[in-house]
Amino acid sequence: MTDLNGKTALITGANAGIGKDVARQLALRPEMARIYLACRNQERATTAKAELEAATGRRIFDIVVMDVADLGSVRAGLAAIDGSVDALVMNAGVIGPQSMDLTTDGVTTVFATNVLGHVVLLEGLLAEGRLGGVAVLAGSEAARGVPKLRMARPSFVSNSADELATVIDGSYFASRKPDFQLAFGQAKYIGTLWMAYLARQHPDRRLITVSPGATTGTQASNDLALPLRVAAKYVLPALGFSHKLDVGAKRLVDGATDPTLSSGAFYASAANKLSGPLVDQADFFPDLANPAFQEHANEAIHRFIT
Ligand SMILES: NC(=O)c1ccc[n+]([C@@H]2O[C@H](COP(=O)([O-])OP(=O)(O)OC[C@H]3O[C@@H](n4cnc5c(N)ncnc54)[C@H](OP(=O)(O)O)[C@@H]3O)[C@@H](O)[C@H]2O)c1
Repeated sequence: MTDLNGKTALITGANAGIGKDVARQLALRPEMARIYLACRNQERATTAKAELEAATGRRIFDIVVMDVADLGSVRAGLAAIDGSVDALVMNAGVIGPQSMDLTTDGVTTVFATNVLGHVVLLEGLLAEGRLGGVAVLAGSEAARGVPKLRMARPSFVSNSADELATVIDGSYFASRKPDFQLAFGQAKYIGTLWMAYLARQHPDRRLITVSPGATTGTQASNDLALPLRVAAKYVLPALGFSHKLDVGAKRLVDGATDPTLSSGAFYASAANKLSGPLVDQADFFPDLANPAFQEHANEAIHRFIT
């Protein structure tokens, strides 16, 4: 296990769902000395903090107000964090916003929340020498599709920076019927490529993407279109395709604490699965390990950061 003695963690989206349970599981490790709950809403964060203290018996939680869909808010949150962060868990995300509306940074909400804010957060910590050891991005099996469930794999003509940028600003769907589930998978795909790119630039750190897998007991599916919501809440659990909250959260905790998980890789369920043991996704989706695609993702993302 990675040595986290007297260490600090920061978790985005830590007031609910998987992020909150990651905070709980990390706090039960005696070596953890401080856990920042990076949340966009002070009231929800305060409630979560009290619940986490009651559940763990530890008073090591600090709130950082941070809306990851707003780069100004991410930068303000960065400035408010004291010292370095040994384990960063970039968990905040939205799965199913049913719109291609753009944020003030000119990117779709799904991209801003799942990826762009985390780019500014992690790169900011790295630039300031304040990432101690490991960063984990919450990925998703949607980034490589699940054919058995008719979840399409994101596929592109060239994976050029120009083409990937059309996903980020939503223009990919200008001449197509919007597909919000695909837009989510594309965002996670580009985020995964960016993490792999960054891992190559920082070989002294462990930067990985881990999917929690299909996880019940979260609020993520609430925004999905009705058929997908029913599938996520009732059909997948009945078919054994999903797992409980603590199992999904443990995957991200393992990402932060298990040094046998290699930097630059994307770990998620085996092909065509949404649960079960973690597998390196490049074993069956080589695009994820393509250095040119990784560079293109990084370039496309940075067109939207000023
Ligand atoms: N659940 C699954 O089956 C599943 C599968 C694959 C991947 N994932 C990924 O796992 C992560 C956690 O998902 P979940 O199921 O736990 O979702 P969730 O229950 O909806 O929780 C999402 C968390 O992110 C926060 N958040 C949303 N937008 C934010 C923003 N702009 N700034 C800061 N925080 C924000 C939410 O805060 P509020 O309470 O303020 O909204 C909440 O704390 C996501 O990245 C998701 O894509 C989940």
